[in-house]
Amino acid sequence: PSGRVLDRLQRPLRDLRISVTDRCNFRCSYCMPKEVFGKDYPYLPHAALLTFEEITRLARLFVAHGVRKIRLTGGEPLLRKNLERLIEQLAALRTPDGAELDLTLTTNGSLLKRKARLLRDAGLRRVTVSLDGLDDAVFQRMNDVGFPVGEVLDGIAEAQAVGLGPIKVNMVVKRGTNDDQILPMARHFRGTGIVLRFIEYMDVGATNGWCMDEVLPSAEALARVQREFPLVPLEPSAPGETAERWGYAGPDGRHDPALGEVGFISSVTQAFCRDCNRARLSTEGKVYLCLFADRGYDLRELLRGGASDDEIAASIAAIWQGRADRYSELRASLPPETRQSARRIEMSYIGG
Ligand code: GTP
Ligand code: 5AD
Ligand code: SF4
Ligand code: SF4
Repeated sequence: PSGRVLDRLQRPLRDLRISVTDRCNFRCSYCMPKEVFGKDYPYLPHAALLTFEEITRLARLFVAHGVRKIRLTGGEPLLRKNLERLIEQLAALRTPDGAELDLTLTTNGSLLKRKARLLRDAGLRRVTVSLDGLDDAVFQRMNDVGFPVGEVLDGIAEAQAVGLGPIKVNMVVKRGTNDDQILPMARHFRGTGIVLRFIEYMDVGATNGWCMDEVLPSAEALARVQREFPLVPLEPSAPGETAERWGYAGPDGRHDPALGEVGFISSVTQAFCRDCNRARLSTEGKVYLCLFADRGYDLRELLRGGASDDEIAASIAAIWQGRADRYSELRASLPPETRQSARRIEMSYIGG
């Protein structure tokens, strides 16, 4: 059983996000607050993690069902030992018509300077780096482990130098904490070939104490950038894309590709569930469909129980075909107790 599958809302499966570790060396308050993720936090034990061979086997079966983009996430994916071995295996996968996959990774950038070349040589195509500000005091307040901005910028520069690209930078915006960094970030990355994206702070998981007051709507972020730099809307580059794209305009008022573009990811104020084509594979081999799901479907048991490729592929198809979730579209109309379900998976577990 292979071929493309549609879910109950007629959405195809295109994008697989694979979490390779639930650990991270940062403690961003919106993701792994220190009070919760302390010394005694029960991370997954080694035996629970899928091996690289298991991940690659599942990825191949997802590709047979339509996946064209694979993104490695974490926690912090570069903390997984020998990650470049996994990248080699994934880079060798081909679509049914023989094309390469869009293989990428979302990282906090802390180990990128050291690893960019290795990753590229292993077959990684591009990277997305999370960076929540340019001011050291603000950035360190966000990562909460005193990690300096300069080292992340060095990592980004190294990634660019070795040809990992186009590079994207993700900035989660929290009103009152780092929203004063919107303009400095825009100024810094404009014209560099790096695509900066502003992300609305989301109510993922059950530990970050999310409240709407701390969300800065994308419309406001856009207006702030517009006041300094004229922007023109751009077409989506792929169906179901998370970000709305805006190009920096030149003197003629048209998009100047040399100045580049910015993106706005507005999961809170403008849900993009209608075209959601993403599935998520956790570090321990559970498939989660929605970022806000409170249950996953275990594939590790099938893998380790000796199931055949056909059996696993059929299971993947059935999981996708049963899907009807669209949390962000429903958020506003949900009762608070559903919205704050304590069983909801954490961002650090599923990688966004
Ligand atoms: P590109 O391929 O570069 O466009 O990446 P992406 O935007 O698909 O992934 P990335 O890891 O850069 O995620 C950017 C932000 O969007 C993060 O805050 C993610 O948590 C969020 N995000 C990604 N996918 C989804 C989704 O399906 N739903 C919601 N609500 N947020 C998502
Ligand atoms: N809201 C929005 N984005 C988040 N990320 C992590 N937690 C949240 C949240 N609560 C971002 C990370 C990374 C991406 C995978 O998700 O900063 O860029
Ligand atoms: Fe780590 Fe990324 Fe979560 Fe920050 S947002 S704690 S860098 S996984
Ligand atoms: Fe997809 Fe769920 Fe995000 Fe909506 S909230 S875009 S359904 S992952």
